Amino acid sequence: MKMKKYVSLFIVVSLIMVMLQAGCTRAPENSEPQPNAPDETSDLDGDGFPEDAVVGVALPWLGTQNWAEADEMFKTQLEAAGFEAIVQHADNKVPTQQQQIESMIQNGAKVIVVGPVDGSQLGSVLEEAAAAGIYIIGYDRLIENTTGIDGVVQFDSIKTGELQGQALLDGLAAKKGEGPYNIELFGGGPADPNAPNFFKGAMSVLQPKIDDGTVVVVSGQNEFTQCATLDWDNSKAQVRMDSLLSGFYSDMEIHGVLCPNDGIARAVITASEQAGQQLPVTSGLDAENETVKWIWEGRQYSTIAKPTDTLVSKTIEIIKSLQAGNGMPEPDTSVNNGKKEVGIYALPPLVVTKENEKEAFANDPGRLELLK
Ligand code: BGC
Repeated sequence: MKMKKYVSLFIVVSLIMVMLQAGCTRAPENSEPQPNAPDETSDLDGDGFPEDAVVGVALPWLGTQNWAEADEMFKTQLEAAGFEAIVQHADNKVPTQQQQIESMIQNGAKVIVVGPVDGSQLGSVLEEAAAAGIYIIGYDRLIENTTGIDGVVQFDSIKTGELQGQALLDGLAAKKGEGPYNIELFGGGPADPNAPNFFKGAMSVLQPKIDDGTVVVVSGQNEFTQCATLDWDNSKAQVRMDSLLSGFYSDMEIHGVLCPNDGIARAVITASEQAGQQLPVTSGLDAENETVKWIWEGRQYSTIAKPTDTLVSKTIEIIKSLQAGNGMPEPDTSVNNGKKEVGIYALPPLVVTKENEKEAFANDPGRLELLK
């Protein structure tokens, strides 16, 4: 009799434990068995997963140095941490990226890191991944209009834009004497959620100077949609710059250009040189090797360092927390992506000009080497 009582007590306690565990486990959102559903029988794992689990990384393209560095660093660092890494890039094509994420799900990934080609085109594949119990971390770019996202690691994109706008103003004052200054504005790829944010941040600094006449956008093209560069394609930026110069500056000097990244800055500088202009003051982003040299030579005025190794290590730190069953760490801030509040792990971007270049790259022997 007593024994029976103990057995029933044991069953009740076990049932409660199973229910509690199911409550704090990230359970699939539908009732179909999922290949990646957390293993609810291995009680001590909690939310975690094996140390040699598959981790997928879906990058948008390798067209700028930061993404090529990320490709390399994710492969090396995920494997060094013991994970099985699937690192792919989509050559800027949305369907390719959707298929790559789909195959990461099928291959049993426990975490998928995504730098989206188009911030708003991954909704359903990421919701499918989330329903399978996979964690999804946005990398460098926000992922919009989906609930399938657990957090984003990035350098603050509005702040980056503010720094670009301020660097342009500082450079104009330092290199072009008293205003008014003739400038033009460039934006990045419209599918990338960073691009409108960079532009917005920059315009928050430039607009008051446009309003008080210190700065003049000679073409009058000052909306993001007029200034964006499809697919972040440098050659398209160069074509637009050629036509701005021939259309508006045939007998006028251009003093400065807001450039959203280094590739576009170099395209703008090249077009200006070919048109026989004095070097315009330019902003930039990424501290690409070529630009690090151009800044040292005085050809590009500024860039912004957002070191890839910092972004990759922060992402891997989060993956390790998930693996250990500790969930997503506390984010620094959050943004609404259209469907939910997304935690942002925000890193600080740094303006680099010739003045602080050695200091900025003091811990980056590869870039320091270029300053000769
Ligand atoms: C990244 C930049 C990069 C650009 C084009 C942006 O989302 O933040 O570092 O230059 O994409 O690849």
